[in-house]
Amino acid sequence: MTNKVTKAIFPVAGLGTRFLPATKSIPKEIMTLVDRPLIQYAIDEAREAGITEFIFVTARGKSALEDYFDRAPELEAALRLAKKQAQLDELRRTDMDSGAIAYIRQRDPKGLGHAVWCARRLVGDEPFAVILPDDVIAGQTGCLRQMVDAYAETGGNMVAAMKVPPAQISSYGVLAVKSDMGALLPASGMVEKPRAEDAPSDFAAIGRYILRPEVMRTLDTAQAGSGGEIQLTDAIAAQIRDHDNVFGYRFKGQRFDCGSKAGFLQATVAFGLAREDLRDEFGAYLSSLNAASHAAE
Ligand code: UTP
Repeated sequence: MTNKVTKAIFPVAGLGTRFLPATKSIPKEIMTLVDRPLIQYAIDEAREAGITEFIFVTARGKSALEDYFDRAPELEAALRLAKKQAQLDELRRTDMDSGAIAYIRQRDPKGLGHAVWCARRLVGDEPFAVILPDDVIAGQTGCLRQMVDAYAETGGNMVAAMKVPPAQISSYGVLAVKSDMGALLPASGMVEKPRAEDAPSDFAAIGRYILRPEVMRTLDTAQAGSGGEIQLTDAIAAQIRDHDNVFGYRFKGQRFDCGSKAGFLQATVAFGLAREDLRDEFGAYLSSLNAASHAAE
C-alpha cells in the first residue's frame, strides 16, 4: 500500500436543505463566494495538496457540477474573439484533464459515511482524502496540504479539528483526545453530535479527512447511527478502538461554515475584502454601514 495520497472524495450528494429554495435547482456547491463556486475552492485546495484523482459522490439534480468542470467551447471561442484573456485564464481554473474526475451516484442520502463508501471501488487499497466543500478554509497553506504532510509523517488517519464554543459542539463530530499539545491530537474516541454536557472535548471535526483504506472495510458493514444515517464518525471511532491510529489535526487557517447561512455571509465578506479588485469599494461600503449603525446608537 502506498502512503502517497493522490485521490480525494468530494461527497456532494446531500440535500442542502438549509439553503432552500436555492438548492431546489442549484447544488449548494455551485453557490459562489464572490465569483467562484464553493467547489472551485475545494478543488484548488486538493490540487495544492497533490491530489490528481477527484471523485465526486453526487445525486440527482447535481448535473450543474459536471457541466462546471467540462469544456465550454462556444464561451471560450467568444472570449478569444473578444480578446478577453483574463476571463479565459479564469476559465482555465475549471479545466480538468479527461479521466481525472469521476462521478458516482449515491442513490439515497443515507449519510456521509455511506457517501464515502460509494467511492470504495475507485479508491481501492490506498489512503484517500475526503473534502466537504461547504467547509471553506482560508490560509497561507491549504488545510489539506498540511494534513497530507502530517499523514506522510505519521501514517495515521487524520481528521481536521478545531475548538468550537460549547453552544455549538452538538452540531459536530467531536474527538476525545489524549493530549492537546501542538498540531497533532492523538484521539482516544470520537462521537457524532453529542449533547454539550456529554462532549468529550471541544475539538470538533471539520470537513477534511485523510483516511486509510481500512475505513472502507469498516463502512462495508456499517449500520445507521446518529440521525438514522451511516456516519463517517462511527467508522473513524472504530479505527481508534481497533488500531489506535487516528489523529485530530489542528490546522492553520480560518474556517467558514458555508453550509450555514451566517457562515456563508461571513465568508462572502472575508473573501470580498481579501480581493484586491474589490477591497476599496467593498471596504468603504462596510465602513459606511458601521458608521451609520454607530450614528443610530
Ligand atoms: P450536511 O450535513 O451539511 O447536509 O452534509 P446537506 O444535505 O449538505 O445540507 P443540509 O444540512 O440539508 O442543509 C455534509 C456533507 O456530506 C454530504 C453533503 O453533500 C455535504 O457535503 N452528504 C451528506 C452526502 O454526500 N450524502 C449524504 O447522504 C449526506
